Amino acid sequence: AFTPRVFSGIQPSGGLTLGNYLGALKRFADSQNSGVQSIYCMVDMHAMTVWQDPAKLARATRELCAGFIASGVDPDRSILFNQSQVAEHAQLAWIFNCVARMGWMKRMTQWKDKAGKNQENASLGLFAYPALMAADILVYHATHVPVGEDQKQHLELTRDIATKFNNDFGVEFFPITEPVIEGAATRVMSLRDGTKKMSKSDPSDMSRINLTDDADAIATKIRKARTDPEPLPSEADGLAERAEARNLVNIYAALENSSVEAVLAEMGGKPFSEFKPRLAELAVAQLAPISGEMARLMQDPAEIDAILRHGAEQARAIAQPILARTYDIVGM
Ligand code: ADP
Ligand code: NA
Repeated sequence: AFTPRVFSGIQPSGGLTLGNYLGALKRFADSQNSGVQSIYCMVDMHAMTVWQDPAKLARATRELCAGFIASGVDPDRSILFNQSQVAEHAQLAWIFNCVARMGWMKRMTQWKDKAGKNQENASLGLFAYPALMAADILVYHATHVPVGEDQKQHLELTRDIATKFNNDFGVEFFPITEPVIEGAATRVMSLRDGTKKMSKSDPSDMSRINLTDDADAIATKIRKARTDPEPLPSEADGLAERAEARNLVNIYAALENSSVEAVLAEMGGKPFSEFKPRLAELAVAQLAPISGEMARLMQDPAEIDAILRHGAEQARAIAQPILARTYDIVGM
């Protein structure tokens, strides 16, 4: 039996949104009371599978770390570190490159989406990315990984790699990691189109709330968020065909740590002209302290670097013996 351990990584590819906060960072912060050891990684080696400007990558890595801390992930209770500082990830990834099969990788929908029509010109790293992700998780013998919808297939591949490694070498060495699926309640949709995920890569800045937005920007984006002309329903069923309305109610419930049912019990029958200012007030009250704390932390990059360095030492202390045993098993 493996000791429960959570691992999750986020790419420092610039710009954290309300989606990252409610779908990942806030959940990570809230789960710190569960008593399970949690390891959170700024996955800069994943980010560079597509071109990253070096100065921007370094800044985005620190800003992501600041985002974790400002959202309530406490570096004294969780391990916060930068992937490239713990070489064991790359070392185990090589072994997994030799375990995983080309056919498995070619089936990854994210590879097909990101490489597009020009696969010949995509980086080899982009193709091998899921094997590195498997190493990120398994170098800690992580048993649970919180994942969004778009990473489910990669976690499935991680399980396949662990299974094949264990079978090939006749060991029960790597755990078969369980996904912790993000609920619909924490999937934040675009403010302009309720069928698309809120994302830093959406060309319209009005579609998202950035964790660095000030109070005015947050209020404006919520006021201008697309909705329909009907008032809010009093039951969740009434939101089934109303993606934009449902999204705003979901965001309200998630920020308030309550449920869609509870929000509608209070707000049912009210028009958006009343609901939106309430939502803006709640969002500003929660997010303004986070953006303020991120800005404060970013003024002292040396402090962030020290936190990441300490986290890397803690991470390495777990990863080193697991890699050493892996080398033993494969005869290296
Ligand atoms: P990465 O490529 O590192 O996964 P993302 O920005 O896509 O970067 O996601 C980082 C984390 O934030 C993931 O856990 C993802 O599920 C979560 N996340 C991103 N966007 C949203 C969203 N709109 N709603 C809920 N969670 C989100
Ligand atoms: Na993602």
